[in-house]
Amino acid sequence: MSRKRVAVLISGRGSNMAALIEAAKDKAYPAEIVLVVSNRADAGGLNLARAAGIATEVVEHTQFGTDRAAFERALQAALEKHRVEIVCLAGFMRLLASGFVEHWQGRLLNIHPALLPAFKGLDTHRRALDAKAKLHGATVHFVVPEMDSGPIIAQGAIAVRPDDTEDALAKRVLAVEHRIYPMALKLVAEGRVRIVNARCLIDEVFVPLPPPVDQLS
Ligand code: GRF
Repeated sequence: MSRKRVAVLISGRGSNMAALIEAAKDKAYPAEIVLVVSNRADAGGLNLARAAGIATEVVEHTQFGTDRAAFERALQAALEKHRVEIVCLAGFMRLLASGFVEHWQGRLLNIHPALLPAFKGLDTHRRALDAKAKLHGATVHFVVPEMDSGPIIAQGAIAVRPDDTEDALAKRVLAVEHRIYPMALKLVAEGRVRIVNARCLIDEVFVPLPPPVDQLS
């Protein structure tokens, strides 16, 4: 089976993008990263992508002012130009409108630094600490028009320690992100994920993937 053509959309440093690129170096991996798109020309991840020999495009949202549809048309054109089949959002800091999201339904993934549905939105690590959560982690999910709400493909958890800081938590969660995003993309690219009643079935059954809990408290 041919490898799925994947674009990664970023806005910043691109460490999740780098994890996907690394995983896809293996010829047996079912997806190849053919394009990295950033909405910011100064995104650090662009240099990492270029160094890895991957095509990059910058589609600056600021050039389109408030015309979000025009921004998304430009995004779509870039994806079509590179014959992209699956899109992975990885720290892409623009909300996408329902037209774009519906077009890519089931082929548009996002990673969120919390155990959804807890802590949608920003500042997830601070909010997990404030809530005195015992477990925290990351989620890879399909994107739906409502933010951070789509069917969950994979999650990974870590224990929150009593002396944790936002930075310490961010670091351990990021390590989880770098493990679960390549795993989730692999499952999707292999066609093993089906959405039934807003739930992801893997291999046609509900398989709770073992979470990488680093210690139980
Ligand atoms: C990650 O924490 C991701 O979960 C969130 O944005 C951050 C992006 O980090 N959506 P990076 O650019 O992948 O390093």
